[in-house]
This record gives sequence, C-alpha cells and structure tokens, in this order.
Amino acid sequence: MLRVVVLVSGGGTNLAAILDAIERGGISDTEVSLVLSNNAGAYALTRARERGIPAECLSPGAYDTREAFHKALYQRLKEASPDLIVLAGYLVAIPPEIVEAFPNQIINIHPSLIPSFCGTGYYGLKVHEAALARGVRITGATVHFVDAGTDTGPILLQKAVEVQEGDTPKSLQRRVMEEAEWKILPAAIDRIARGLVKVENGKVRLLDECTEDAQ
Ligand code: GRF
Repeated sequence: MLRVVVLVSGGGTNLAAILDAIERGGISDTEVSLVLSNNAGAYALTRARERGIPAECLSPGAYDTREAFHKALYQRLKEASPDLIVLAGYLVAIPPEIVEAFPNQIINIHPSLIPSFCGTGYYGLKVHEAALARGVRITGATVHFVDAGTDTGPILLQKAVEVQEGDTPKSLQRRVMEEAEWKILPAAIDRIARGLVKVENGKVRLLDECTEDAQ
C-alpha cells in the first residue's frame, strides 16, 4: 500500500481528483493518510475531512521564523512516514532539508508544459496569464519530481491542452485542470504505486508492466 501525504493551499480540486481516482480504482493500492495545508481556510481541508481523512493546517505564520516552520513541517512529514508526498496546488517552497529527506519521493503538479511558464513567480493564474500573453497555441500541465529548484525536477508526465480563441486566464486554467491536471496527477501516483517509475541520472524512466522496458 502506497502511503501518500498531500500538501495543499487552495480549493483542492487536484486532491479531489486523487481521492476520486482511488475510490474508483484508478489508482492502485494507495491511501492518502494525511492532508496538510499552510492555509487554515483552504477548502481542500474540508474536502479531506468530508472523506474522513486527517487534515491539518501548518501555517508559516504560526512560527517566529521560516526556519522554525521548516523544522515543524519536516517533523510532521517524518512522523507521517509517507512513501510519497504530493504537492497539489501547494504554494509554499519546500526547503532543501525536506527534499533531501525524501529523495524522489515528492511530486508536484504544475499548470504548464515545463520548461515553459514555470519557476519563481509562476503559479496559479499567473501561469495562464503568461501563456496567453505569449500567444502559445498549446499549453498543458506537468507532473515532476521535486528537487532543490523551483519546478526543475525530473519530469514524470505531461499532457497538452489547446488554447482556444477568447480564452481568459480563468477559462484556460479551468480547461488545463479538467483536461490535464486532474488526469495526469492520479495517473502519476498510480504508476508510482505500481512500481513503474524510476529516476535515473535526473531523468524519469516509465517502465512497462509487462516488459520492464522504458517506454
Ligand atoms: C491551480 O492553479 C492549479 O492549476 C494548480 O494549483 C492551483 C489550485 O489547485 N495546480 P487545487 O484546486 O487547489 O488543486
């Protein structure tokens, strides 16, 4: 059983996609044992509680220093002893000590086709505003492993989404969530749960169940 902790900051639609996929068998042999948010008002916490999943707020504002918050987050994650940590719309940077404590065990969903429109300052609607400003025809979403950088870790899955005439940042965000994020994040967790993902030399190998060959 893959034990998953999900970190959230907002509405929790990606969390819901994960929980729905577990319930319908779209993700094998996995349980979400804890949902953590930096934001006490995150609706994602409500979604977890409605399904009987422990949901806690760990807010940087409750600590005198950022280092104290990092220590508390590190300790809470260690206590939860997850096999996988999923950043599902989590807006707080993960400090190096946590990345090092969970090597290739932290994945993130980013609402663009990395390396486009990612890195510091690119989150939420800002990503889609930048895509529309650049005039790209295709955007999408990426699931990647988290390393010490921002949106720079090995790419696991991506899915493209067409930009449509008249799109606003909001309409584009919604389509990227519906057509890409809510599909590839559960798919990525399922592949990890089935042991079909390897990280070698900074690149992800997706193994085929039957032949163990990289796809
Ligand atoms: C959205 O901007 C989404 O594109 C990104 O995180 C934000 C909140 O998602 N991944 P969620 O509804 O909290 O999952």
